[in-house]
Amino acid sequence: MPAGFGAGAAASEWSLSYTPFAMSRLCVILFGPPGSGKGTQAKFLKQALGIAHISTGDMLREHMAAGDGLGHEIAATIQAGGLVPDETVNLMVEERIELPDSKTGFILDGFPRTVNQAKLLVGLLAAHGIRPVVVHLKVDYNVIIARLSGRRQCPTCGALYSVTSNAPTVSEVCDYDGSKLVVREDDREEVVRERLRAYEKQTTPVLDFLRGSGYTVLDVEGADASPAAIARRIEALIRKEVGPAQ
Ligand code: AP5
Ligand code: MG
Repeated sequence: MPAGFGAGAAASEWSLSYTPFAMSRLCVILFGPPGSGKGTQAKFLKQALGIAHISTGDMLREHMAAGDGLGHEIAATIQAGGLVPDETVNLMVEERIELPDSKTGFILDGFPRTVNQAKLLVGLLAAHGIRPVVVHLKVDYNVIIARLSGRRQCPTCGALYSVTSNAPTVSEVCDYDGSKLVVREDDREEVVRERLRAYEKQTTPVLDFLRGSGYTVLDVEGADASPAAIARRIEALIRKEVGPAQ
């Protein structure tokens, strides 16, 4: 079972199909506010669709954990809940989608977050002949605040948990590798509120920009069912949109 699915969600119980897409490269853009479940859903969809998971937040946190030059540059911004400069993130994504695991397609989790980032993406996907599908996870802000205060993550394998809705079998311990779970530094309530402000101001206009660029946007309720049930819903919508595997 792949890392990151959380307790009680064996892949065989939820996925519609294990057949990878045999069509042109696919880019699933997971769009939604902080805490809407982008990372959770990306882990399911990576397995179901056989494509790479690219999280700009995870990549930035890796630089911070490594303590390298970029990590030092961005730490204050991330800890305050603001957005890292477009040039930094755009370059990271441009390089990342060239790696071999992105050849069959990829899921973007947390990118694009500004209209400038979206402009770069639209150009990149067109130049590479990659087909986009946007999945918009809709979750109420009150649910988000509650979710993020209960989020725990495994520092070793990246598995995501919630102390209320998806707790590990043993409190504060990863089901897969026994590591002690951690709380993300930017999950303090005042930082979450700042992240939500940044989302409202800088990120929500991206959805209209993508629609205006001809991208299909699939609106999905992100809080009325378990992560596995929501993943099945999303997978079905994507397969309907792009057609069955050959
Ligand atoms: P990033 O890491 O992208 O964070 P985010 O967008 O704020 O989103 P989160 O990771 O907090 O939430 P999520 O939607 O992944 O939800 P999750 O699946 O964990 O970005 C962090 C920072 O990096 C930004 O603030 C910015 O500074 C910087 N950054 C990143 N990308 C950038 C970019 N492109 N440009 C500029 N700066 C950038 O789920 C949350 C919780 O809910 C979990 O506990 C989970 O178990 C639980 N949960 C999930 N689904 C359900 C469900 N159906 N029912 C009950 N609980 C659920
Ligand atoms: Mg995330």
